[in-house]
Amino acid sequence: MILMDDYLKRLRRAADLEGLAAIVKSCQRCSLRGGCSQVVFGEGNPDAKLLLCGEGPGADEDRLGRPFVGRAGQLLDQILAACGFQRFEHVFILNVVKCRPPGNRTPNAEEIRACLPNLRMQVHLLKPKIMVLLGSCAAQTILKTEDGISRLRGRWFQKGNIWFMPTYHPAALFHRPQLKKDVWDDFQQVVAKYRELIDSEHTFPHG
Ligand code: URA
Repeated sequence: MILMDDYLKRLRRAADLEGLAAIVKSCQRCSLRGGCSQVVFGEGNPDAKLLLCGEGPGADEDRLGRPFVGRAGQLLDQILAACGFQRFEHVFILNVVKCRPPGNRTPNAEEIRACLPNLRMQVHLLKPKIMVLLGSCAAQTILKTEDGISRLRGRWFQKGNIWFMPTYHPAALFHRPQLKKDVWDDFQQVVAKYRELIDSEHTFPHG
């Protein structure tokens, strides 16, 4: 308990994203850290006001220490490119949990709760205007709801200064390609909001 409090104190004192990354990389708040090879903090432009949040690192992410670098990540990069967004220029990408759950299972409630202060502090320092929530784990955790992703997707949720757009996780599109149109529609809404709130000049190859 004392150790946990100490971690939270250190976390709250992080002055910038780099400092926060160093602290999060030392996190031992749940058992996931024991079973993964490294903590995947997130990456992108630290000044980006558009944040993308996934579920947790998979095998490729765990190996490379970077978010969304496997098959789903390649698809995500393609979706972003079609919207005129580049990973290191327009967005910052992170996950609900920073350590790979064994066998790529969905993180459980306890693991999510343990990692939530890390995510909260990332959001606090990044100060996004828009967050895209990729899949039900991110959407349910961040919007604090048990509603399924098919019910949540495609609608804006506003909390404080942040606009949230839940959509399907890119990995879901491999099993259910019929969802691609919904994801595309959701990202079109993100582009429109990006132009409204972040950069009215944002060019978008398809619109
Ligand atoms: N899936 C996620 O949710 N996050 C990653 O970083 C990779 C795959």
